[in-house]
Amino acid sequence: MRKIIIAGNWKMHKNQAESLEFVQAFKSEIENRDEVREIVLCVPFTSLTVMSKNLHGSKIRLGAQNIHWADQGAYTGEISGSMLTEIGVNYAIVGHSERRQYFGETDETVNLRLKAAQKYGITPILCVGETKAQRDAQETENVIINQLKQDLVDVDQSNLVIAYEPIWAIGTGDTCESQEANRVIGVIRQQLDNQDVPIQYGGSVKPNNIDEIMAQSEIDGVLVGGASLEASSFARIVNYQ
Ligand code: PGA
Repeated sequence: MRKIIIAGNWKMHKNQAESLEFVQAFKSEIENRDEVREIVLCVPFTSLTVMSKNLHGSKIRLGAQNIHWADQGAYTGEISGSMLTEIGVNYAIVGHSERRQYFGETDETVNLRLKAAQKYGITPILCVGETKAQRDAQETENVIINQLKQDLVDVDQSNLVIAYEPIWAIGTGDTCESQEANRVIGVIRQQLDNQDVPIQYGGSVKPNNIDEIMAQSEIDGVLVGGASLEASSFARIVNYQ
């Protein structure tokens, strides 16, 4: 059975006080859930410690937004697997399109980061997806198959989550049609050796489209940016029907 994983990606939002405020409100809104849905909050590095302390004993798991491939070393501005596991981090987003677009992340470095996360027992959430221009040129499948081919070299598919995030749908309010997201996620699954890898959809997921997205047969969860910043909005997403 494939796991359902609902993850929030806070990006560069919320200081420690704001993170704490969110957790206090959010916890009470999800308390009574009895279904098995993994909830993950991927927060800024500076909020990881306070979140770890306050999520202890709850159903909510903690995620980072990046991880470096080296154990330690002269890599200014980066963070290692041992630094994250010490705090109790369970997940790390790898290869988000914003990292690829603004910070020179390549499929080669994505591959190194995926393997580093797994080495430390952290489950990486690998992001793949096409630009608007690639979609318009009918290159969506090729782009994604190529990303997967390079990103997944020697990666253990038993400790992996993939997020299909069409870049044109991120932060734009322009959600990918749920049937189309379902179709592309089916294509992604065909490329995998392990059919149990959870595959999420990401890109303008909101309280008003979550039910339709989660009704799709191939979609095993969502990676949520903007709508994960507000407790009641993310709670509605987690409590999808
Ligand atoms: P969004 O971001 O939900 O704000 O579109 C999704 C993401 O970037 O993971």
